[in-house]
Amino acid sequence: MQAPTGCRLLVAPALWHHAAVYSSQEAQSMAESSAWTLQGHTALITGASHGIGLATAREFAGLGADLRLVARDPLALERLKQELEAEFEDLDVVVYSADLSDQDERLAVFDWIADLGSPISLLVNNVGGNQPQATLDYATDDVRAIFELNLFSAFEMSRLAFEYLVTQDDAAIVNVGSVAGLSHVRTGSAYGMSKAALHQLTRNLAVEWAESGIRVNAVAPWYIRTRRSEAALNEPEYYQEVVDRTPLGRVAEPEEVATAIAFLCLPASSYVTGQVLAVDGGFMSLGF
Ligand SMILES: NC(=O)c1ccc[n+]([C@@H]2O[C@H](COP(=O)([O-])OP(=O)(O)OC[C@H]3O[C@@H](n4cnc5c(N)ncnc54)[C@H](OP(=O)(O)O)[C@@H]3O)[C@@H](O)[C@H]2O)c1
Repeated sequence: MQAPTGCRLLVAPALWHHAAVYSSQEAQSMAESSAWTLQGHTALITGASHGIGLATAREFAGLGADLRLVARDPLALERLKQELEAEFEDLDVVVYSADLSDQDERLAVFDWIADLGSPISLLVNNVGGNQPQATLDYATDDVRAIFELNLFSAFEMSRLAFEYLVTQDDAAIVNVGSVAGLSHVRTGSAYGMSKAALHQLTRNLAVEWAESGIRVNAVAPWYIRTRRSEAALNEPEYYQEVVDRTPLGRVAEPEEVATAIAFLCLPASSYVTGQVLAVDGGFMSLGF
């Protein structure tokens, strides 16, 4: 059976006899109206004042989501809020300063969300940090601090978000992991362990919360140019080693992670859950 001239088949051939046929124009407008927009969503993004979190806030704003942005520095957050409000006039952007290493402050974020009165439908667990050391040199408290920020924050924020996400259509969580959770990349074992556990949390929640209509995915970036990676990337020899080890031959900009995070939140990825998407220029695929 052939598709009528000027029309595009949007379904698998086996479903053809059940399906409507859409013109290219209709298909385009359907895509624009549903799969590729975050209009109607409210997203809570952690670590939103710099780097990948900031780029994600901008990307989501462009896709129409209202924003709840959290980080520690209130001035950086306020600056971002003003910028976004000037650029995206119709959006509701609200910011809150909190240290997400601390459970009381995580609880305070959700008191704030409750006071705002509009439920969140998307959560991006992006905060993370590291104090790289050789395994034998770590003080136990340093390891615990890395886990508090990189893993327990996402675990607790996800649990606290559940009561809102479960009430919303197309709810999703994206965790920002790392290739350090997939392979040894000279970050120190504590960071690698915390990110590997975050990836596994992603898979566990994806299965556990599927029946509640919440998709859970992660991104695993390789080198992204942010203030965190700046010092390392400014060392010419190290930078060259990184680039030589990256099939696409460059490091990435935060916006290139933000678009991957956005995809995992969009209805366009409605059948994707439990995945850890490497955003790595091919780094993890290079054997020799
Ligand atoms: N850059 C890379 O190459 C790379 C690679 C792989 C994975 N990642 C992951 O990507 C995520 C973002 O990293 P990035 O490179 O974008 O870092 P970044 O530019 O330093 O931004 C980190 C953000 O998190 C906030 N933050 C840090 N500690 C916090 C805390 N205790 N409580 C609340 N907010 C906190 C920071 O704001 P305040 O300082 O104001 O709190 C900032 O907004 C992290 O999870 C990191 O592990 C990054």
